[in-house]
Amino acid sequence: MSKNVSVAKIIKQSELAEGIYDMVLDTPLSAEAAPGQFVALYCSDSSRLLPRPISICSADAAAGTLRLVYRVVGAGTGEFSKLSAGDSVRVLGVLGNGYPIDEARDKKVLLVGGGLGVPPLLFLAKKLSEAAGSDAAPAAVTAVMGYRNLGLRFLSEDFSAVTNAIDTSDDGSFGFHGTVVDAIKAKDLNFDIAYSCGPLPMLRALASLCADKNIKCYVSLEERMACGVGVCLGCVAKTTGVDAHSLVKNTRICTEGPVFDSRDIEW
Ligand SMILES: Cc1cc2nc3c(=O)[nH]c(=O)nc-3n(C[C@H](O)[C@H](O)[C@H](O)COP(=O)(O)OP(=O)(O)OC[C@H]3O[C@@H](n4cnc5c(N)ncnc54)[C@H](O)[C@@H]3O)c2cc1C
Ligand code: FES
Repeated sequence: MSKNVSVAKIIKQSELAEGIYDMVLDTPLSAEAAPGQFVALYCSDSSRLLPRPISICSADAAAGTLRLVYRVVGAGTGEFSKLSAGDSVRVLGVLGNGYPIDEARDKKVLLVGGGLGVPPLLFLAKKLSEAAGSDAAPAAVTAVMGYRNLGLRFLSEDFSAVTNAIDTSDDGSFGFHGTVVDAIKAKDLNFDIAYSCGPLPMLRALASLCADKNIKCYVSLEERMACGVGVCLGCVAKTTGVDAHSLVKNTRICTEGPVFDSRDIEW
């Protein structure tokens, strides 16, 4: 895993929904990126020192491109949204462990995303779809993606192109009216393994549902981060077991994660 800083040129950037941007970078990092991993982008304004972590939404090694989808929430992401084709950005990465994709083999897979947790699951959905017909293929894949409302819907068509996709909205403006976990229960979805990313309450509810059914569930935790490379301890999560290195019930999301077996997290 490379933890170097490199400079990447922006090939294109567009607004997918209000305040949600789709950035495509020209970078050799595309060759090493795996679903569930992330990069951290530096701001050019030197008053904002820390790089901003963004999940990899997809990577095309042949084209040498990395796709990032992010929401503008503060000064850093605000700065990125003003960049356009031809501009450059400094990138730290590739970072994080990624989803254990080999565990999907022969299984009925459920992908569950909420809000800005949706982008990394598109990369995973594409990889699982590419595995079709090979020894590594899952038995079936269903994606359940939750959004606040129609105005904040994005990537739906990309998911439908590669997998069986169910959309939910909190306000009922499209798709299933309710949360992703409500949809999984109402539709009585049958699955052997879940991979997820989204807000903490969603992950907690999914982890609880999977624990009740004795189904393995991987969660990607997108908590606040600072250094992104394991030295500042600004991103710790509570774990059920004791870490062999630190001898406490803590783990660093940026290096040991961001993807964890939900049973290893203290919810
Ligand atoms: C592993 C990981 C993957 C992520 N992937 C995505 C993604 O694909 N799309 C997306 O829209 N957002 C993603 N985020 C959240 C994104 O990193 C923050 O929204 C972003 O850092 C906010 O920066 P800002 O300067 O605009 O906001 P500010 O609030 O001004 O940021 C101030 C500081 O807090 C940090 N910070 C603020 N919010 C977060 C947060 N939620 N997570 C981590 N650090 C934060 C910033 O990095 C910065 O150092 C991810 C976060 C993590 C940890
Ligand atoms: S962000 Fe510094 S240790 Fe994780």
